[in-house]
Amino acid sequence: MRKQIAAANWKMNLTLQQGETLLDTIIATPHSLTDNQQAVFAVPFPYLAMAQQKLAGKKNVFVAAQNCYSKKNGAYTGETSVEMLQSLGIRYVVLGHSERREYFNESNQLLAEKVNICLEYQIQPIFCCGEPLSIREANTQNAYVTKQLEESLYHLTAEQLQHIVIAYEPIWAIGTGKTASSAQAQEMHAFIRAQLAARYGAAVANNISILYGGSVKAANAVEIFGQTDVDGGLVGGASLIADEFVSIINALKK
Ligand code: 13P
Repeated sequence: MRKQIAAANWKMNLTLQQGETLLDTIIATPHSLTDNQQAVFAVPFPYLAMAQQKLAGKKNVFVAAQNCYSKKNGAYTGETSVEMLQSLGIRYVVLGHSERREYFNESNQLLAEKVNICLEYQIQPIFCCGEPLSIREANTQNAYVTKQLEESLYHLTAEQLQHIVIAYEPIWAIGTGKTASSAQAQEMHAFIRAQLAARYGAAVANNISILYGGSVKAANAVEIFGQTDVDGGLVGGASLIADEFVSIINALKK
């Protein structure tokens, strides 16, 4: 059975002290995670060790990085390797977030390299895809997302693909307060799963968690996560507020 995941993406927010307080508050608030559910915290690089320490031993709770570099090591000033992340015990890396694609020119090809190196070091990519507003308005979002998956993921074997989590984040819904309707989310998630099934078979496709991202909050999480092919969320703004994020964790399907 595929995992249901509530993933917090702090982006470039919070001081160390604010991050510590947020994690402490979330840990102290009762929340229920079944064996099939996970909470993931994608924190800024300087806070990875702190988060890893605070969450150590917490069942089904993991830390993620928000990016990594595509090379193993070497003279790449300012970059962070997956070997470094592995040495901290990090489980996940968010790859291909639309903000990285847009502001840092990350291409599908570069992301394919990052996916490969993560898998080599047993770190699971949370691979983001999703279309801008102009594409949605032209109703060509399926082709757009297909190309993103094709160029960054479809070189993988079925065994490798099982280690990928996909996050569908329509760009027009990120930080805008404008959520895709639960029907729009379900439609795209079912489309992605059908594509995976056509390529890798239904058994593999049914095992892949596909998260929705874009203005998820406590008030809409139950409805969005309730959709058949939505396996949780990648949450920005609402993940910075402890009781919001705890409600979002509790909204995961059992
Ligand atoms: P918001 O939840 O703030 O819309 O951000 C979504 C997102 O980009 C998560 O990665």
